[in-house]
Order: sequence, then structure tokens, then C-alpha cells
Amino acid sequence: MEIYDEKTPAHILRGLYATPIICELSKLGIFTKASKKINLSNKSKIKNNFVLNLCLDYLSNIGIVIKKSKNYELSEMGYEIFRRSNSFFVPHSYREVILNLGKILQNKKKLNSCKVDRNENILGSGLTHLRYFFQPINYCNSKIDYDSLIDLGCGNGHFINEVLKRKKKLKVVGIDLSEDSVKTCSKNISKFITKDKFKVFKGDISKVKFWKNKTSNFLKGTQPLISLWFMLHEISNHKVKNLKQFLNQVYKNFPSSSLVIGEIVRLEDKILNEIYNKSLMPEYLFFHKISGQGIMSWKEYKALLIDSPYTLEYKWLFDNANKSKVPSAFVWILKPKKNYA
Ligand SMILES: C[S@@+](CC[C@H](N)C(=O)[O-])C[C@H]1O[C@@H](n2cnc3c(N)ncnc32)[C@H](O)[C@@H]1O
Repeated sequence: MEIYDEKTPAHILRGLYATPIICELSKLGIFTKASKKINLSNKSKIKNNFVLNLCLDYLSNIGIVIKKSKNYELSEMGYEIFRRSNSFFVPHSYREVILNLGKILQNKKKLNSCKVDRNENILGSGLTHLRYFFQPINYCNSKIDYDSLIDLGCGNGHFINEVLKRKKKLKVVGIDLSEDSVKTCSKNISKFITKDKFKVFKGDISKVKFWKNKTSNFLKGTQPLISLWFMLHEISNHKVKNLKQFLNQVYKNFPSSSLVIGEIVRLEDKILNEIYNKSLMPEYLFFHKISGQGIMSWKEYKALLIDSPYTLEYKWLFDNANKSKVPSAFVWILKPKKNYA
């Protein structure tokens, strides 16, 4: 554990103010990845310039923005922060919990009555996950024979779109519990392929028989690749047993399909203490836990590979530069075993 220094209280308090400002200015396109300069065309959309200027002055007071006569532009650090602002969106989308903490602690407000900002959540997870997508897509395109894709928990369709950019003649299925995701995903896919080539619908991915039946005609004669990006924790209910059953069901219904699985890992306190200075994992784990999501430990995920109908064909481990070499996130390519009973 690092020692407390004089900057610590300011840094901790800063999260309360700087994070919402960064998220909102980023979503409104005031600062973008394209330039350090303020985006003037989007600035003209702001109706409350008094508050905008207060926000910009505040950001300049904490070194994120530089005030130049009457204008503002990002500092080096500010540019880096706005370039990656999408990784602030998901924790920020759970802000209602933090802002109501007093009431929640006293049982005056129920945890599950706090709304998540769905749009920000889906936007943030889609953009944050992009970094994980590229290498597995290249791997699958060169090593795996597939001509259709089933993306389980498709969100906005970011993964599907990245695949379609590289492999245009695919039949695509996207399934998600949220109506908003289904709508946005369909809209995004239709930029790449015609309506007869994709099917996006609302459904619970843990009900394998249901989505198998709903897609069998559409996928007839194709070889599907099945992807699950950050979805195991949505369906685990904190139990390895549930995930094992799910994978067995998928194998039974799609015995020749490879799987691409991306997930984040519940790190032990010891590792979080080691990495917290540079990592957003304490915040990511906090909101996942508070919203009841069943993120598993590295050991538990690895247990999925024991007595499994799949073999681990390839893996990528992310952010495992800690003493125990436990990753914060991983991607697996799983290949179905032949004749697994
Ligand atoms: C963490 S996001 C992941 C989205 C997408 N896979 C990605 O990586 O960008 C979780 C998504 O899964 C959906 N979801 C959660 N539980 C689900 C379930 N049981 N069946 C289908 N979709 C589910 C949510 O609506 C949300 O869009």
C-alpha cells in the first residue's frame, strides 16, 4: 500500500466533480478525440454557457484544460483523459447509487430502485470493449471457419459491426434482454448488411433452447461462431455451476461452433491494493457488485475449462502486471471437442 500524501484528499474529492463534467462534455462532443481544441460546432448547441464556463474554468484549475485568453483547449493530460473518456461512462452511468448513498444506507431508498443511465451504459461498454475486439476478430478470421455469427448480449452491436467491417458476407444474429439494445443494434447493423442477412431480437441468452429454436431456420446451412462479450457475469448468478451448465447447453445445441468469450475478473483485495493507483478496477468492481452482477474470480473462470466440452484454443490476458499475474480481463477462444459425451 502506498503512503497517503498531501494530494490524496484532493484527488479523491475530485472524482465527484471531474468525472460528471468529463462524461457530459465528452457525450456532448465539446471535446473529442480529434483535437485538443474545443469543438465549436458542438459548443453552439450548449444552452447554458454560464455553467459550461464554470465547468471549463474548473477543468483549467485542475490541469485538464488550458485557458487561452477567452478560449480553452485540452492540456496533454486532458487530451489523454478525453481520449479515453468512454471508460468513465459505465461507472458514471451508475451515479444514482452514489448520489443516493445516504438514503440507501438508511434503507430509505432501495438499491434496486436506482436507475442506471442505460444509454450511457451501453455507449460506454461498447466503446470500452472495442479495445478487446480487434485481435480476436483477426484470429477468428484467419483460423476459424465460420459464415454466421451469434452475438449473445449484443448491446449496441459494436462487436458485430467490427466483424462486419472485415467479413461482409456473414449472416448475423444479435440477442439482448434490453429493447433499447435491440433497436440500436439493428440500426447499426443495417449500415453494413441488408435486412435479410441479420436477425436481432429480445431474449434471455441463458435460455439456450429458446434462441436455438428462434434462429435455426435463419442459420440453416451455416457454420456459426458464437460470441459472449462480458456476458458470463450477467448469467452466472455467482456460481461456476451455472456457467458450466450454460456452456454444456451451448455445446449440445451448437456442437461445431467455436466460442469467443471476453470477461472481467473479480480481483482479490490484495491485488486491488497493489494496482489501485493506476487501475479503474476498484470502481468497476464496485458498481458491478452493487448491481448484483456475478463477476467471478480468475480461479473460478479457469474452473470452466476443467471437464469442459471445449478446449482453450487461444487466450489474451489484459492488465496482469501484478505480483500474482492475475488479469483484470481476458479473452478466450474455445474450440468444441469432437464427440464430447
Ligand atoms: C456488459 S453489457 C455487454 C454488451 C456487449 N456484449 C459489449 O461487450 O459491448 C451487457 C449487455 O447484456 C444485456 N444482458 C444482460 N443480461 C442478459 C441476458 N440474460 N440475456 C441477454 N442479454 C442480457 C444487457 O442488456 C446489456 O446490453
